[in-house]
Amino acid sequence: MKDEVRVAVIYYSATGHVADIALELAETAEKAGAEVRLRKVRELAPQEAVESNPAWSAHAAATAGTPVAEVEDVLWADAVLLGSPTRFGNISAQLKQFMDTLGGAWRRGELADKVYSGFTSTGSPHGGNESTLLALTHSFHHFGGIVVAPGFTHPDKFLDGNPYGTAHHDAGGTEPVGDITRRAARVQAERVVRLAQAVTAVSDGSR
Ligand SMILES: Cc1cc2nc3c(=O)[nH]c(=O)nc-3n(C[C@H](O)[C@H](O)[C@H](O)COP(=O)(O)O)c2cc1C
Repeated sequence: MKDEVRVAVIYYSATGHVADIALELAETAEKAGAEVRLRKVRELAPQEAVESNPAWSAHAAATAGTPVAEVEDVLWADAVLLGSPTRFGNISAQLKQFMDTLGGAWRRGELADKVYSGFTSTGSPHGGNESTLLALTHSFHHFGGIVVAPGFTHPDKFLDGNPYGTAHHDAGGTEPVGDITRRAARVQAERVVRLAQAVTAVSDGSR
């Protein structure tokens, strides 16, 4: 059996809010004893679209060195945390495109029996954070994944009030990721690591 569980934190972020949550999740998972890969997915938007938005181009430049997610990162992991900004109440095209590259692995049954959990950011508090997190779980079910929601399993979860995953709302891009969201992310990452440890402890060690 492996000593450390492996956690992949894979996300898309245009203007940095989802990336901030991803970093909090990755750091917490590492502190909880996991081996962690933090990966952004490939940008699909045209360069002129990115350049038209100063926050978007600044974030793209700041994360130029972040490794790009590959299918192998998911295969490597015991637990996968997927994050996307809400786009019209749903997952961004960029994260969805990455998920679509998992088709071969899905067909071979290689996505099954892993722990999965989701995170997001919206512009407004009721702008679709829950629908985005639930949309992610649709795919987790198709994968044969073990869906680990944070639920109300910790006092901090009564502060952010979202049982489906970690979600920030940026108030039209003006609100950075704050303490309540960070605390929710820490609860989620610790829970994901703990349950991934439990799953790998009872698996046959073949992964
Ligand atoms: C095309 C587009 C669609 C969006 N749709 C929604 C939406 O449905 N609901 C919402 O609250 N915010 C929406 N937003 C705002 C983003 O979800 C929000 O700013 C998010 O925090 C961005 O995350 P990021 O900084 O990681 O890119 C949308 C933004 C864009 C560009």
